[in-house]
Amino acid sequence: MKKPFVSLEQIQEIKKTYPTPFHIYDEKGIRENARAVNRAFSWNKGFREYFAVKATPTPGILQILKEEGCGADCSSYTELQIAEAVGITGHQIMFSSNVTPAEDFALAAKLGAIINFDDITHIPFFEKIAPIPETVCCRYNPGGVFQVSNEIMDNPGDAKYGMTKEQMKEAFRMLKEKGAKHFGIHSFLASSTSSNVYYPMLSKILFELAVELKNELDIHIAFINLSGGVGIPYHPDEEGCDIMAIGEGVRKVYEEVLSPAGMDDVAIFTEMGRYMLAPYGALVAEAIHEKHIYKEYIGLDACAANLMRPAMYGAYHHITVLGK
Ligand SMILES: Cc1ncc(COP(=O)(O)O)c(C=O)c1O
Repeated sequence: MKKPFVSLEQIQEIKKTYPTPFHIYDEKGIRENARAVNRAFSWNKGFREYFAVKATPTPGILQILKEEGCGADCSSYTELQIAEAVGITGHQIMFSSNVTPAEDFALAAKLGAIINFDDITHIPFFEKIAPIPETVCCRYNPGGVFQVSNEIMDNPGDAKYGMTKEQMKEAFRMLKEKGAKHFGIHSFLASSTSSNVYYPMLSKILFELAVELKNELDIHIAFINLSGGVGIPYHPDEEGCDIMAIGEGVRKVYEEVLSPAGMDDVAIFTEMGRYMLAPYGALVAEAIHEKHIYKEYIGLDACAANLMRPAMYGAYHHITVLGK
């Protein structure tokens, strides 16, 4: 059973000031979860979670996460503005965008964000807007299908994001020539995963690539960004991921692959959205009608304008009738 973080009595009290429908967030839950994430990766000196702003583009939420030591993963101009509004700037911003407009790159450069190039052609495009920064990142797409044992987790070969291995090499070579000194690697291979092995498996792919790039191009790999993809239990009968086991799994791969290559200074970044916030927010609505025809209907005072997502692609959102 899913236990809501707020009671019927509390909602009745809140409703006197804020009539339904409204969204409500569990600040305590958000903070405790962010602390658990930081604990799980505390073995890594440079670890930082860059909250995926797209997951809840609300300045108040970003402020809470900032206070817990998180940065911001921005993918658009507006998300950059939201980060700036709460004082998240410089390397506390990862700009992970694609099909990027010139104005977005210009604002990211002005804020001193870490630019994550989605494509090799974005490098000359960016150069017309701002000089290549000393610290840069490129997004990797290994192609094919990504599977854990027999289960296909996702299909990177079908996704528009990131560069091939050859393009990564070419991009890093190009960036080095243009003055970049510290390099990051980013990849997002599966979404909404329920297994604790997703990040460790992704780490193995990215750490091995990092060693290859470092040796071949003689460059400093400063960080590896595992991006998002850690899922949450949507259905009451599902089990959630264990963030401590995930952090430990990544540490083991780090010690197997990066440490022997003398790359102990590589920082691990994450860019989780769903895992950081989905369990800690709810839409509160009131049932205002009952309709009995061929089926039973409960009419709410909320509609798709208040929560668009289920209508768009059938995502599951658990409904709790408070007090029942
Ligand atoms: C570049 C990037 N980073 C991070 C995320 C967050 O992913 P999640 O909510 O699965 O953690 C997304 C989601 O679309 C993304 O596109």
